[in-house]
Amino acid sequence: MRGEAQDLQEAIARAKQDWECTADSLSHVVCLVDADRRVVRVNRAIEAWQLGRVNEVVGADIHDLLHPSACGGECALAVRLRSGWLQCQNATANEFELFDSHLKRAICVTLRPIVADSDGHRPQGDSHAVMVVMDMTAMHLARVAELERANYELQNEVVRREAAEEAARLSRSELALLSQQLIQAQEKERRRIARELHDSAGQSLSAIKYSLERAAELQRQNKHADAAPLLSRTIGLVRETITEIRAIAMDLRPSLLDDLGVASALGWLCREFAETYAQFEVRTEIAAGDAEIPDRLSTTIFRCAQELLNNAAKHSRARRVSVGLLRGSNSVTLSVSDDGIGMPQPNSSGSFGRGHGIRNLRERAQMTGGRMIIGGNSGTGTRVQVDWPLATRDMLA
Ligand SMILES: Nc1ncnc2c1ncn2[C@@H]1O[C@H](COP(=O)(O)OP(=O)(O)O)[C@@H](O)[C@H]1O
Ligand SMILES: [Mg+2]
Repeated sequence: MRGEAQDLQEAIARAKQDWECTADSLSHVVCLVDADRRVVRVNRAIEAWQLGRVNEVVGADIHDLLHPSACGGECALAVRLRSGWLQCQNATANEFELFDSHLKRAICVTLRPIVADSDGHRPQGDSHAVMVVMDMTAMHLARVAELERANYELQNEVVRREAAEEAARLSRSELALLSQQLIQAQEKERRRIARELHDSAGQSLSAIKYSLERAAELQRQNKHADAAPLLSRTIGLVRETITEIRAIAMDLRPSLLDDLGVASALGWLCREFAETYAQFEVRTEIAAGDAEIPDRLSTTIFRCAQELLNNAAKHSRARRVSVGLLRGSNSVTLSVSDDGIGMPQPNSSGSFGRGHGIRNLRERAQMTGGRMIIGGNSGTGTRVQVDWPLATRDMLA
């Protein structure tokens, strides 16, 4: 009998030792607490946490176990332990997390009541509860890092959105400015046309009307001999007016450009030019069909030809003016040449005189991917050529 009891006691002692070994190997602080919140036993983690030695902390209050150097008693941990303990008294487990500034760790504290068996016995004598304190710092830091990363990404997103909104705002105001400029340019152009019509055609038509009234009056008085020279002067005036109106019309965009294409419009421009400026022999070599020139170049080619022909009429004093439009395998070329006095020497900034015509042409050509070459010397006339290399999409078009 005695032998059996001894074996049993030894088995219990071994089990207790095994259990202590297991508890001691944990990184959490695990302690048994009596009815007065005092430590009955604690595992070795307390030493790893540098809160005292296992034997010395027995009897300490659970708060003082974790905060051995006095913290005034009214710290956050004390408050949470108090309410947790109250719950534990009511046989309810309690768990809370907090960042403890004394321990400098994020901790998770669990208070679990030890329930007595039907005979009122508890497994560990006067132990009423188990307190487990886990170090959550690493997890806490990981969570903080994750939050910081999310926050950083959020801030980046805010910056990106603000930049996009700012860009949209800018392009909106740029668009508003551009359309305002467009309206202003249109108004300016309308004023110019109105002024030109009034100053040239308007004045001439008034003079024609007056001459015809005078001639009619002379006819009525049977003064036919006086009326005849007046009428032939008036015919001259009508001819001049036609020329003026043609010049104004040539400056405007002909509907041919939109209806047929730039090759047809250029042919029309050359015919009008030849009729308006009868002193020039005009040669036209349009070796390209309307459909062969990409739409995106139509207006530019037409405006270039208009300006170059105007220049020839205004400045060249030539006898012969030639216009060419060629479509090569991968380029389009417009050329206007004359046999007049030739271009003056360009000034230091590369422009000729104070006019804007040539400068505008060069800009227009560049904006559409073309290149303008001005050739010819003083005495040998002028040749201006604009080349546009064609992109693959142009060739498919
Ligand atoms: N075909 C030409 N023959 C001779 N000189 C020319 C010719 N084209 C242009 N020029 C000269 O180049 C100058 C600049 O031309 P441009 O820029 O078109 O301005 P604008 O025609 O308003 O004077 C002209 O003033 C003229 O002196
Ligand atoms: Mg000009």
